[in-house]
Amino acid sequence: MKKVLVITYSQSGQLDDIVSRVTSEFSKDINIYHEKLISIPTFPFPWKGISFYDAMPESVTMTPSKIKQVTFNPKDKFDLIILGYPIWFLSPPIPITTFLKTNEARLVMNNIPVITVIGARNMWVMAQEEIKKMISHNSGKLVGNIALHDRHYNLTSVVTIIYWMVTGKKEKYLGIFPKPGVSNKDISESNRFSTVISNAVSNNSFIGLQQKLLDLKSVELSPSIISIEEKGKRIFKIWAKFILKKGGVGSPQRVTRLKMFKYYLMFVIFFISPIATLIFYLTWPLLFFRIMKKKKYYSGVELKS
Ligand SMILES: Cc1cc2nc3c(=O)[nH]c(=O)nc-3n(C[C@H](O)[C@H](O)[C@H](O)COP(=O)(O)O)c2cc1C
Repeated sequence: MKKVLVITYSQSGQLDDIVSRVTSEFSKDINIYHEKLISIPTFPFPWKGISFYDAMPESVTMTPSKIKQVTFNPKDKFDLIILGYPIWFLSPPIPITTFLKTNEARLVMNNIPVITVIGARNMWVMAQEEIKKMISHNSGKLVGNIALHDRHYNLTSVVTIIYWMVTGKKEKYLGIFPKPGVSNKDISESNRFSTVISNAVSNNSFIGLQQKLLDLKSVELSPSIISIEEKGKRIFKIWAKFILKKGGVGSPQRVTRLKMFKYYLMFVIFFISPIATLIFYLTWPLLFFRIMKKKKYYSGVELKS
């Protein structure tokens, strides 16, 4: 029997739904062990008040927190690890960072192929770069990436995700906005990756797997979103440092700065990013080759040194 370890962190269960579709057509000879990470204390869902923004500094600076002891045996040798995660503020969510920085992660990933599965709004490439680094630090081998996202227009998906995150309801806001998050159709169709991955595990051959996944549209990147993300991540790091000067998670001293960040974020999303997108497309012909190079890199599993 082959053994696959699935590790996920998901608040709403969206990631778990995606991963269970991705693994739904695995060969009967493959045993799946699913570890769902649980943070201590748990992050609220639905999110209440400022707590949502309070997760920003530690997500961006990738400060580990605490998680419940994992139940798999880290000394077991798995044939593949599937790591499923959402994105928090262009970064890996705190429970995933926490896990990847544990001894258990180091032990279990050593020399083992890893596939990442992402369920995001639409901005995940900066987080994936950090995940690539942590997997590499644990001596794991990233062999594939599947990134599902909300396909609606950037500003529409901001409105709908906020509604989802603060109510916990993955429903049409006011009955007129589209459903938030990854669509049911995209989740349901993610079983198309199953056979390719299952064959790779059965044959213990992961060379060229990412290209096979890409042929099945495992990653669809918008160049303008990449450009916004790269700039956004740099600015988030400055904000994170500024807020952390006032204390750690839950510190009342940092609430004023968190509120400033909240208003800044809304201003940037609704006023600056449409202008930045327009400028991006006006300069697109001049930067064409550079943009294509970036798109290729972020679609892959290599890590720039
Ligand atoms: C605190 C927080 C920050 C988020 N930031 C981003 C982001 O920067 N980019 C993005 O594409 N999605 C972002 N999302 C949405 C998540 O990627 C994800 O789609 C959503 O939280 C559902 O994931 P779940 O499986 O944990 O329920 C954020 C969600 C939360 C809770």
